[in-house]
Amino acid sequence: MASVNSAKQGAGRVPLIAGNWKMNLDHLQAIAFVQKLAWNLKDAGHNFADVEVAVFPPFTDLRAVQNLVAADKLPLIYGAQDLSAADSGAYTGEISGQFLSKLDCTYVIIGHSERRMMHAETDEVVAAKIAAALKHGLVPVICVGESAQDLEEFGPSAVPVAQLRKALEGVKSASDIVVAYEPVWAIGSGKAATPVEAENVCAALRAVLLEVLGADVAEKTRVLYGGSVKMTNIGGFMKQPNVDGALVGGASLDIDEFSGIIRYQKHAF
Ligand code: PGA
Repeated sequence: MASVNSAKQGAGRVPLIAGNWKMNLDHLQAIAFVQKLAWNLKDAGHNFADVEVAVFPPFTDLRAVQNLVAADKLPLIYGAQDLSAADSGAYTGEISGQFLSKLDCTYVIIGHSERRMMHAETDEVVAAKIAAALKHGLVPVICVGESAQDLEEFGPSAVPVAQLRKALEGVKSASDIVVAYEPVWAIGSGKAATPVEAENVCAALRAVLLEVLGADVAEKTRVLYGGSVKMTNIGGFMKQPNVDGALVGGASLDIDEFSGIIRYQKHAF
């Protein structure tokens, strides 16, 4: 399987393991968690150039995480879970991409299914948020995925492919983006997609990238799988040629489990 990995790396796609904390851990807990995670990975001799590690804490934790990462020069990357499509103004409760940039966020998750479902985020809103992220120098982690009903009605890749097409209307040129395929039925359910199911949809998503943004972008863009990823199933996903990492929810809140996912090469290859 080393060859699958070197093909990805050769294309410039460093595997990315990203922890989406959702609405968990306050800023004090975040400091303790990030410190422990960094120590744990350092003790294990983790090479961050081989597998990039990112965390996505709640907004209120970001300043604390920024300070910690800067003060201790931690090799961890971080981002936000959402942003506003607008830059500033009368948008009570919203957070501008400009603010996230100032907090040295690298990434921002956009279009997570929980936002699409609970906050009625349409494909148009997702595209506008992606444009806002890029405008402020943030790398959007664009989430797409089908529900169980979609799967039954339209098959495995129709909905994620359509969502990505719409989302890419927010991307004008060869920008730095990440795509995350997260089947809604697999999120938090303990029932992950199989590696082959994930590969098939991730390959279809890469084909959309090729068609809309060209070969260069398609080759270098990381496409992640998300949905009930654990230490015991990550290896199967990472062996697939079109899966470049994982967006991890529940398991990213357990330091040993998350470290095990990050260190998949040591136990699963
Ligand atoms: P899960 O969540 O790993 O808990 O299934 C994934 C996600 O929502 O990003």
